[in-house]
Amino acid sequence: MTRAIAPAAIAKLRKHAIVEVWPRETPPPYAQLLRRAREADALLTMVTDRIDAALIASAPKLRVISNLAVGLDNIDVAAATAQGIAVGHTPGVLTDATADLAFALLMAAARRVAEGDREVRAGKWQTWGPAVLLGHDVWGATLGIIGWGQIGRAMARRGIGFNMRVLYTSRSTRNRESVPGATRVSMKRLLQKSDFVSLHVPLTPQTRHLIGAKELASMKPGAILINTARGAVIDQRALYRSLKAGHLGGAGLDVTDPEPIAPGDPMLKLAKVVITPHIGSASYTTRNKMADIATDNIIAVLEGRLPRFCANPEVRLRPPASYPGHI
Ligand code: DGY
Repeated sequence: MTRAIAPAAIAKLRKHAIVEVWPRETPPPYAQLLRRAREADALLTMVTDRIDAALIASAPKLRVISNLAVGLDNIDVAAATAQGIAVGHTPGVLTDATADLAFALLMAAARRVAEGDREVRAGKWQTWGPAVLLGHDVWGATLGIIGWGQIGRAMARRGIGFNMRVLYTSRSTRNRESVPGATRVSMKRLLQKSDFVSLHVPLTPQTRHLIGAKELASMKPGAILINTARGAVIDQRALYRSLKAGHLGGAGLDVTDPEPIAPGDPMLKLAKVVITPHIGSASYTTRNKMADIATDNIIAVLEGRLPRFCANPEVRLRPPASYPGHI
């Protein structure tokens, strides 16, 4: 386990396995992970752990990688499948927490909440003023949602609750649940018409830099971009240039590329950018549920079943390693 998760989940797992927990708050260095993975039947990982083909190939006993996340861009799922290793993740339980944070960033960027807080703390609050920290209305504005998975739809419901006009776009041809009041449009139209654009796509080779210079230029002047998906979905340099030039009106970023953002990154100098440290799913209840699912995903494989939330259900599980005295 590459970080300590909810104690109840660890205790549950200890009934089925010898559990080693990485004791620090920062992730294990890759070399450590590689070394420990060689001995492991199961890995419980975080989005900060790179589980690549080389690591998977050097873990002969490994049967399950269980990610404490819905996103799987840190794991080479194809390599795991080829080696007979199941990959588990935690969809569903973090949908509302993540949509809440996306909406919080939208509100914060629109109404300059973080800027106001910084000014007050710096002793710069002199008086009420008719032009102090003016922002943008959320009520009645147009919200464009890119990605129509569970979190995108949860964001749409929040927008509709705030009387926003909601547009969405999705590359998926699957007929996904509709949200009354939300209209499907092309990406081009969404970028042209939206006052706020919120990203809800997984990071894949197809979505890397999905929002680049061209897409940013086609957004409405003054529009605000929200990202709670993955940093690399945006070309961050292009975003910086657009904000600096005054084309985009602001951004709310829970994810950056890289993470953490470098302390000297010029983005940190832009007052109209609100940045949080990848905390989309970070509520007590949600993290407890994620921990519970992540451990259940491991227990299932130790008992010879596939994880309930399995990213590669087509996998042919490799047989368990045999240990002297194993019962
Ligand atoms: C995820 O689940 O993919 C988040 O980024 C971490 O909660």
